[in-house]
Amino acid sequence: MIIGVPKEIKNNENRVAVTPAGVAELTKHGHTVYVQSTAGVGSGFEDDEYVAAGANMLPNIEEVYAIAEMIIKVKEPIEQEYGLIKKDQLLFTYFHFASHEPLTHAMIKSGAVCLAYETVEKADRSLPLLVPMSEVAGRMSVQEGAKYLEKPMGGRGILLGGVPGVKPAEVIVLGGGIVGTQAAKMAAGMGAHVTIMDISLPRLRQLDDIMPANVQTQYSNDYNVRNAIKSADLVIGGVLIPGAKAPKLITRDMLPSMKKGAVIVDVAIDQGGCFETSQPTTHAEPIYVVDNVIHYCVANMPGAVPYTSTLALTNATLPYAVQLANKGWKKACSDSNELRLGLNVVDGKVVYKGVSDAFNLAYTPVEQVLGTSASN
Ligand SMILES: NC(=O)c1ccc[n+]([C@@H]2O[C@H](COP(=O)([O-])OP(=O)(O)OC[C@H]3O[C@@H](n4cnc5c(N)ncnc54)[C@H](O)[C@@H]3O)[C@@H](O)[C@H]2O)c1
Repeated sequence: MIIGVPKEIKNNENRVAVTPAGVAELTKHGHTVYVQSTAGVGSGFEDDEYVAAGANMLPNIEEVYAIAEMIIKVKEPIEQEYGLIKKDQLLFTYFHFASHEPLTHAMIKSGAVCLAYETVEKADRSLPLLVPMSEVAGRMSVQEGAKYLEKPMGGRGILLGGVPGVKPAEVIVLGGGIVGTQAAKMAAGMGAHVTIMDISLPRLRQLDDIMPANVQTQYSNDYNVRNAIKSADLVIGGVLIPGAKAPKLITRDMLPSMKKGAVIVDVAIDQGGCFETSQPTTHAEPIYVVDNVIHYCVANMPGAVPYTSTLALTNATLPYAVQLANKGWKKACSDSNELRLGLNVVDGKVVYKGVSDAFNLAYTPVEQVLGTSASN
């Protein structure tokens, strides 16, 4: 198959969808890979590394879209790219259709096959192409929290791990999923005293078994959260209710009870945030202060560490990309339930229920397109 890897053009997006190692793997399977010149530079991969791995470099994005049967990307196509997408072309990338109606209509109109990273789903209902970014954001939340607790950054001036004779910082982690687990591990590793709060007792039991002694678990309810944040130096929000907005666990009236210069990192901001006073921020201006509490609410945290994020993402996406290239999308999706669940829009039809429901569009069962569409 002919595979195209365009350079991401979304603002401040430095990740790339295929690394030189990925090119080597795809070419080993007999595929031809075209990479747009400088596509990997933001993640630390130079053009000559791609060439050495077997890629053909193309100078501009138009040529990449024009030649490729499958486009592998990171972010959803943006408006400038809509016109470049060809009918029956396979697009394998994050789309997040349900939050972007114009994109949905543009992809329907294109007649392309849109396989979304975010809805590829394993039998245990986990989302293997979202997990790596939650891992990055969870680990990073502690790094950022520690930084903004420093006095020159406006924080309380407390070192997470303390020192002999001085107590460590109190870290509260709301949500014990992927983000919360990684955050708790990092904070505990730095010597902080950590409390993970979740509403899932099975999850709390599991965390209680695997976490080190400086991590405790506590059931999450309004009463317990209200009390816990009074003594917190750093609060990390990583709650998720699938398909819904994040619940507001810290409301405005609770902030005055917190310590002056405490930091809250709302990782769940991409789902609306789990603190009432959270507003999305960017890496250019990541924080603001409300009632003496520093708020860090960057919606695309992994964007700040593109080298790690690219490798983490491509480790997860490449095996699926190889299946798609080896078999063609139709056979790959017929053989793999995980990949089939990734199909969102095919040949002008919406085949993912969540997307059709979001915009009141006609829904076509995916089996129908797998049986009738022209094969790639
Ligand atoms: N800002 C970023 O850059 C970034 C990056 C990656 C992920 N995220 C977001 O981080 C959030 C968490 O992602 P995840 O992968 O860890 O999800 P996850 O599903 O693995 O974990 C969510 C956890 O929240 C718990 N929860 C639900 N309601 C709760 C409540 N009231 N109190 C306490 N816990 C509660 C669930 O039981 C679950 O354990 C998501 O919104 C995700 O989109 C943001």
